[in-house]
Amino acid sequence: MAKFITIMSGKGGVGKTTTSINLALAMHKTGSDVVLLEGNLSSPNISVHLGGTYFPVTIHDVMVGKHPIKNAIYEHHTGLRIVPADISVEAMQLVNFEELKKHVHDLHLYADYVIVDGSPGLGRESTHLIEMTDELIIITNPDPASLLDAKRLIDFAKRFNKIIIGILITKHKNKSYKLKPEEIERETGVRVIGMIPECKKFEMSLHHKKPYIHLYPRRKPSKEYEKLAGMLTGRVL
Ligand SMILES: Nc1ncnc2c1ncn2[C@@H]1O[C@H](COP(=O)(O)OP(=O)(O)O)[C@@H](O)[C@H]1O
Ligand SMILES: [Mg+2]
Repeated sequence: MAKFITIMSGKGGVGKTTTSINLALAMHKTGSDVVLLEGNLSSPNISVHLGGTYFPVTIHDVMVGKHPIKNAIYEHHTGLRIVPADISVEAMQLVNFEELKKHVHDLHLYADYVIVDGSPGLGRESTHLIEMTDELIIITNPDPASLLDAKRLIDFAKRFNKIIIGILITKHKNKSYKLKPEEIERETGVRVIGMIPECKKFEMSLHHKKPYIHLYPRRKPSKEYEKLAGMLTGRVL
């Protein structure tokens, strides 16, 4: 049975897609069988981060029963397998989470881990994603606004009795005005499982449409994503 791990946040723009891609790739590099699934169907952007915006079969085709999920699995040149979404506005009308839930479970046949790039906030989409997943990783930046939204998401997710693996702090900076991991743990009651330093090179990664850990494997953020991948899979590089 594949384990579904969904990457979520209260606030938008904190680093969910960046984390989903780099964490999934780091897990793949440990030899684990991973698929990265686009779960942010209202504004999908895995394909923007990885290059290529047209895919003949997407999660939307699977949702409407046109194709089995295996036809929507693509191998990126890094070796990471992804299930992209249709980015057109028309495709948004096709979203039916009940159907999605039925079909994504077929991914059990193709992977040990499904990393789901989630949506921000506590809306309908997030509710369905929480229902669909086994476990959650909450992303926050070390500032009061992201933390407040992360707290709300954690309170919300607890109602579904899902395992919250922990909080990943992204865009971390050692500055007096930034929140410390201890403060974030104290405020949320959830453990911090990693800290990804803020790094300008993430912009270059987006520009080149290549995962950060693929472009900059020796930098600290890559090492931190690898550490987390090791913790999740029990395998190290
Ligand atoms: N550790 C980091 N340091 C600096 N910039 C980052 C970091 N992580 C993500 N970013 C940048 O933040 C922006 C939003 O990231 P993204 O992953 O798209 O967020 P979300 O999916 O939560 O909306 C992107 O420009 C991304 O390159
Ligand atoms: Mg995103």
